[in-house]
Amino acid sequence: MNTSGMLRDGAMRGKTIIVTGGGTGLGKSITRYLLQLGANVTICSRRQAVLDETARELMSEPDRPADAGEVLAIQCDVRNPAEIEQVISQTIEKFGKIDGLLNNSAGNFISPTERLSYKAFDTIVDIVLRGTYYFTLAVGKYWIENSIPGVVLNISTTYASTGSGYVVPSAVAKGGALIMTKSLAAEWGKYGIRLNAIAPGPFPTKGAWDRLFPEPLASVMDPTKRIPLKRVGEHGELANLAAYLLSDYSGFITGETVTIDGGEVLAAGEFNHLEQVSSEQWDMIEQSIKQANRASKKEGQ
Ligand code: HXC
Ligand code: NAP
Repeated sequence: MNTSGMLRDGAMRGKTIIVTGGGTGLGKSITRYLLQLGANVTICSRRQAVLDETARELMSEPDRPADAGEVLAIQCDVRNPAEIEQVISQTIEKFGKIDGLLNNSAGNFISPTERLSYKAFDTIVDIVLRGTYYFTLAVGKYWIENSIPGVVLNISTTYASTGSGYVVPSAVAKGGALIMTKSLAAEWGKYGIRLNAIAPGPFPTKGAWDRLFPEPLASVMDPTKRIPLKRVGEHGELANLAAYLLSDYSGFITGETVTIDGGEVLAAGEFNHLEQVSSEQWDMIEQSIKQANRASKKEGQ
């Protein structure tokens, strides 16, 4: 595993990226790397104090390169178009233009679906789906009106494609955002606008772990057990992929979803549970199959 920065120094210099949910978790880790690569980054979410603290931390890191980018922290609920437009205008005022949008904000929690109120369902879908299409529409209009090429990267999930019980509002919303990614990639390619998605498996963050692996689940369920590579993801691994997809180096990739999950999504493979079988049991199984083969050959004679 190598979690050090992959792109060359200064690879994102001159670029301005908006990162929703950039104050915490994966959004913060990706922002850290984009800044190191020279990009200016606007981080936005509901809690201004969290954003301000992250901005302070990222601007004063000891290994911050001399030519690192700057952070702008703006309060914004992605369910509110007027607040999104404020983020866009303040970003342009401060940094001159916008080159990329990382739709990373999300809300989620595990629950049997029949226990959810209408409001609970709406809350998740509004943050994840409505928030993603509001922000994409607002930034896309700005790019088209100003003939600026742009890139959108949506943080999705693997269950946006497979579906999953117990996170149904999130699956519905992430699935909708994923089909928007592909649809707009086809429609807006002519404007030089690219849209891609990343589908991460488990990457430890406080936000996700508190709501998806809470106690008493966390002590009895180890998410790494069903992952072929037997570990969770490292933030640096995701940040490398995100920076690449936001950079011009991925200029011919659009409408794509890159899964980064240690093979977790492959767990559905019909015979993968045979991992449980011991070597002694395999000896017996082999003998049993060979015996059946011999019997069937005899029958044919
Ligand atoms: C049932 C619940 C609930 C629960 C909340 N609700 N938690 N219902 N079980 N555990 C209901 C509430 O009762 C309420 O409905 C409605 O949801 C809204 O809840 P509020 O607390 O009023 O909403 P709000 O303050 O806006 O908080 C939003 C939130 C919260 C989504 C509920 O968790 C949040 O702020 N999340 C942001 C960060 C986050 O979720 N990060 C994780 C992303 S991880 P009623 O009807 O009672 O009023 C992710 C990765 C997935 O997406 C893949 C991992 C491998
Ligand atoms: P996180 O730290 O909880 O990040 C979620 C962010 O969304 C927070 O910064 C939160 O900030 C922001 N947010 C929530 N509601 C918002 C709203 N209405 N408006 C604006 N911002 C809002 O969790 P994370 O694990 O880093 O998740 C980041 C992304 O990765 C999400 O899209 C998630 O679905 C995805 N993902 C994570 C994992 C994982 O294993 N961690 C796996 C697959 C996908 P505020 O509270 O300040 O608003």
